[in-house]
Amino acid sequence: MSPDLDQLVAAAGAAFAAVSQPAALENEKARFLGKSGAITERLKALGKLPPDEKREQGARINAAKEAIERLLAERRQALAEAQLAERLSAESIDVTLPGRKRSAGGVHPVTRSWIRIEEIFRSIGFDVADGPEIENDWFNFTALNSPENHPARSMQDTFYVDAPDAGGKPLLLRTHTSPMQVRYARMHTPPIKVIALGRTYRVDSDATHSPMFQQVEGLWIDENVSFADLKAVYTDFLRSFFETDDLVVRFRPSYFPFTEPSAEIDMMFTSGPGKGQWLEISGSGQVHPNVVRNFGLDPERYIGFAFGSGIERLSMLRYGIDDLRIFFEGDLRFLRQFN
Ligand code: PHE
Repeated sequence: MSPDLDQLVAAAGAAFAAVSQPAALENEKARFLGKSGAITERLKALGKLPPDEKREQGARINAAKEAIERLLAERRQALAEAQLAERLSAESIDVTLPGRKRSAGGVHPVTRSWIRIEEIFRSIGFDVADGPEIENDWFNFTALNSPENHPARSMQDTFYVDAPDAGGKPLLLRTHTSPMQVRYARMHTPPIKVIALGRTYRVDSDATHSPMFQQVEGLWIDENVSFADLKAVYTDFLRSFFETDDLVVRFRPSYFPFTEPSAEIDMMFTSGPGKGQWLEISGSGQVHPNVVRNFGLDPERYIGFAFGSGIERLSMLRYGIDDLRIFFEGDLRFLRQFN
């Protein structure tokens, strides 16, 4: 190699050594080996030389080129290794740190009741239905034998929705799950055996009332379903739900526009911490003939019962909770006890 080429190789080595980033190294490479780099320029110049000299010079330049390429490869390797080492030390893991726990979610106590209720009623042949929380006036009231302006509507203080439905009738947050009786019965033929669970809304708020609460509606319609069936089904349900036979049930005369006769269902535990106290647990009754007619059925032929119970209320009794609002506060100290 000529001294000139030796110097060029040395210059390349120094230039490569001076950079610390791979991108900068590639720029340096261009200066020597690129299209108009020093080596390339020299190779281009060969063309003007006589053949003998061309061969000799060519071999030298190629040797220098290879030397520069070797230096480049070495530097590339060194930079890559340095970069890896830096990353490894930056991302180093402290294996002595405590692990990060992934906390498991749990089922809310009211949801637990919901699931139990479905299981129990399914096991005795009831279907489970679901319906809208925004109801129209007809399903929530009129079809249930509460005509417009009837004072019984004021039994349930209602949240109305600003916009009316397509027919200009008021829309509202359903005040009970009873509209599901009508929705379901109009789509099925007897025997009708169904429960419908879901959220309901009333302008109501204290330790035992929340503006949103959940109900389970029950409906059994056939040619010969009596109050005795209601008593049997509901009492068996309570015994399964509370997992005890130590409870008694009483039916207290009451009034609902959509049932006649109507009864409030009370229950009392006969053993355990809450024994000896009557608790109101559900509305119920024999479905009113006008309502059966709104089911699209002949009330001379079809008869049956309905009930509507608060799911929070059932949960409070099952778990011995005396303030309903705690269900909706999302306090993990409370909720963890059920999981
Ligand atoms: N819908 C009534 C309420 O919310 C309860 C009920 C349901 C009563 C079915 C009788 C029959 O108060």
